Amino acid sequence: MLDKDRIPKHVAIIMDGNGRWAKQKGVPRVAGHNAGMKAMKKIVDHSDKLGIKYLTVYAFSTENWKRSVEEVSGIFGLLVKYVNSELQELIRNNVKVTVFGDYSMIPEDAKRSLEKTLEQTKDNTGLQFNIALNYGGRDEIKKAVCAIAEKVKAGELQPEDITEETISAHLYTGVHNYDCPDPELMIRTSGEIRLSNYLLWQTAYSEFVFTDVLWPDFTPAEYEKAIEEYQSRDRRFGGR
Ligand code: FPP
Repeated sequence: MLDKDRIPKHVAIIMDGNGRWAKQKGVPRVAGHNAGMKAMKKIVDHSDKLGIKYLTVYAFSTENWKRSVEEVSGIFGLLVKYVNSELQELIRNNVKVTVFGDYSMIPEDAKRSLEKTLEQTKDNTGLQFNIALNYGGRDEIKKAVCAIAEKVKAGELQPEDITEETISAHLYTGVHNYDCPDPELMIRTSGEIRLSNYLLWQTAYSEFVFTDVLWPDFTPAEYEKAIEEYQSRDRRFGGR
């Protein structure tokens, strides 16, 4: 049973295992991503129902460009399909969509659909759904360091005034009006036990839940199990 008073504010998810799911079923990898998108849709809805305020999903990493052209364009095709078919529903549900990552180089049609979604949901005050797209944790930290160095160079900031908060404020989770707390819970599916360059700074004190379930099979019931596991943990933040 979930404790309604201890629902995490921010959940981050690595949606892993679409390829293995497809292999098991003997279908193309893109069919695995399509099933993954359907699973993601349900998790977005369920996050909202549970009162989670921020959900961040790893949709495409800075390393995913190494995959075949067919697979990469398949993933972006799904992104277009998702935002176009869900936009009205997202607006109705007061969901604000944001992107963490430099998406300037994604295909034009995907960029257009995405920007329309960002624009039309930007004032929504319900669930904030962050899509990590062309995202890498080290790249994010590097960009923050460059932006801070520029401010120092311009005389707007003194090195001794740089705090952890300064760094947080220059990450994707801090810029624009995205203002997003660190995730209390990080979930990775498919039995892989690593962070893969995801939210490196923000997960310093997150609880990690790993499950063997492949992402397309990750249901709202599995999601609740992961949150229950989180609720059973004793979070001390380095204290006693
Ligand atoms: C990891 O599984 C998954 C991805 C790299 C892509 C995630 C994409 C979706 C869930 C659907 C598209 C949704 C949006 C918003 C773009 P994997 O391919 O690494 O699986 P494997 O490790 O089993 O090969």
